[in-house]
Amino acid sequence: LKIKNIISIKDMNRTDIDSIHAKAEEMEKVYYSGSEILKGKILGVLFFEPSTRTRLSFESAMIRLGGSVLGFATDAATSIKKGETLADTIRTVSNYCDAIAIRHPSDGAAKVAAEFSTVPIINAGSGSEEHPTQALLDLYTIRKEIGKIDGLTIMLAGDLKYGRTIHSLIHALSNYDVKLILASPDELSLNKQTIKEIKNKGIKIITTNKIKSYISDVDVIYMTRIQKERFLDPSEYNKLKGKFILTSEMLTNAKENMIIMHPLPRVDEITPDVDNTKHARYFKQVYYGVVTRMAILDYVLKGE
Ligand code: CP
Repeated sequence: LKIKNIISIKDMNRTDIDSIHAKAEEMEKVYYSGSEILKGKILGVLFFEPSTRTRLSFESAMIRLGGSVLGFATDAATSIKKGETLADTIRTVSNYCDAIAIRHPSDGAAKVAAEFSTVPIINAGSGSEEHPTQALLDLYTIRKEIGKIDGLTIMLAGDLKYGRTIHSLIHALSNYDVKLILASPDELSLNKQTIKEIKNKGIKIITTNKIKSYISDVDVIYMTRIQKERFLDPSEYNKLKGKFILTSEMLTNAKENMIIMHPLPRVDEITPDVDNTKHARYFKQVYYGVVTRMAILDYVLKGE
């Protein structure tokens, strides 16, 4: 049987994404009641980097579907610390479970894991490169909260250089008829190669170093944290921190139905006064993360 990995969102087309979303819609019906469709299956969660949402939502999704989980939230207590390689760790853990969700600080780590695994690999965040399951849940959130993806103007804001959620989301969005506003400090702009690839797919892109100028035009603001952990020079981070912030006062002229999303965690880039506005959806997004990951697990472990 062909192993169904989820390594990069670029491996998925619009039909694939729509099919995961259709399954997520079904999963909403068993979110509270639970299901036994993955009874007897085990998910390995190997997290070499901190996480709250991705790890716990994968665990919640697996348990809600009747399956079990094993793994670690830090490599500090594993034989990696004795010098074991990622390849040997994956070769080993493949014997303990039916699929592996891996988060790793290095770009390409999930792809390497897939080369050595005998079970499906799910990329739960690799370096600053990709976070494909986040992109799937982000699009599901837009679809559920606005009712469509085609025809929308979407602002991707914050750290577009290091943010892996951005790198996956922009490719996922390029399967749809959207207009994109890329808003970031000049030092944290999206790489030119990605902009070129997305434009070549016929997507209109505007770049800016100010959020405020375009707020009244957009249907979605997708805000992101400046990725402190990716800066080689801490002084560069200190220069940029606190400079790209969304406040409720900036939303005065926003469209009535505009939604604000964030992959979380948030530091200071969305002030708490935004949380109680009609636009905030970042905690609802967390819920959509569970049902989307239930759909992903079903696809990887059982689905057609
Ligand atoms: N969105 C996201 O990846 O959050 P965590 O780092 O908490 O998993």
